[in-house]
This record gives sequence, C-alpha cells and structure tokens, in this order.
Amino acid sequence: MARIAAGADHAGVQLKDVLVAHLRKLGHDVVDCGTDGLGRVDYPDYGEAVARKVAVGEAELGLCVCGTGIGMAMAANKVPGVRAATVHDVTSARLTRRHNDANVICLGERLVGAELARDALEAFLGATFEGGRHAPRVAKIDSLLPSEPIAQ
Ligand code: RB5
Repeated sequence: MARIAAGADHAGVQLKDVLVAHLRKLGHDVVDCGTDGLGRVDYPDYGEAVARKVAVGEAELGLCVCGTGIGMAMAANKVPGVRAATVHDVTSARLTRRHNDANVICLGERLVGAELARDALEAFLGATFEGGRHAPRVAKIDSLLPSEPIAQ
C-alpha cells in the first residue's frame, strides 16, 4: 500500500473524490490536498501542493485531476524531483511508471469517465520502474535545469 497525495481544481474535484474514496477502499493512505468543492480555484496551487508532498517524501506518489489533466501536470513538473504524466488510457499509465518513473499521475475529468480513470490509476499504482536503459534517460530529465530562452 502506498501513501498518495491527491489534489484537484474545481473541474477535477468530483473525479478526485471518487478516486480518493477508491484508493482508501483499497487500503492506500491518501493525503487529500483539496480542493473540496465546486468553487473556482487555480489548478497550479493544487498541482504544486501535490508535487511538494511527493518531492519531500511525505507521499510516494501523487494524483492530480483537473479538467484536462494538463495544467496540473505543467505545474507539478516545475517542482524538482517530480515527474508528472497526463494519461487517459491504461497502457500509458502503466508505461509512464515503467519507463519514465513517473511519480504523479494527472487525469482530466472532462475527458475520461470514472471507470477508465480508476483502471488507469490502478495500472499506474501496480507498475514499477524498470530501471536499466530507462534509468539514464530519467536521470537526464531530472538534471535539466531551468534556462533562459535562447535568442534567435
Ligand atoms: C479549468 O477551467 C481548467 O482550465 C483546468 O481544470 C484545467 O483543465 C487546466 O489545464
């Protein structure tokens, strides 16, 4: 069983709540970072909250839900040590753990039904990083530093 940080904005909160309940039923320890209702909020705040829990080791893995799963991933990936992946199918969910060592899964409530989201989340949790040839590639991702745009 894993300790999982979960977060969503107003466009993802209903799916997030369904998935949090499912994770708890399976026996996972979930830290719910909010949001808690349908009032409008800004998704970067929740993507950052989940990512920071993962980055400091307060959670092994993260779950982010917004309308598309894209904005939350963009925000979460700004936090060093976090590798957030937006996935909307079971195969991508499994492979991003196996190959990219993704530690945050991002889903879009406006794009997937609850059943597919649950299956993708279970595939993500059930897979492990393969290491081997993937390890130096992931290390290259982690070593990328923020840089100034190159002038044309
Ligand atoms: C909110 O309307 C929406 O923009 C947000 O949930 C997300 O889809 C952003 O990526």
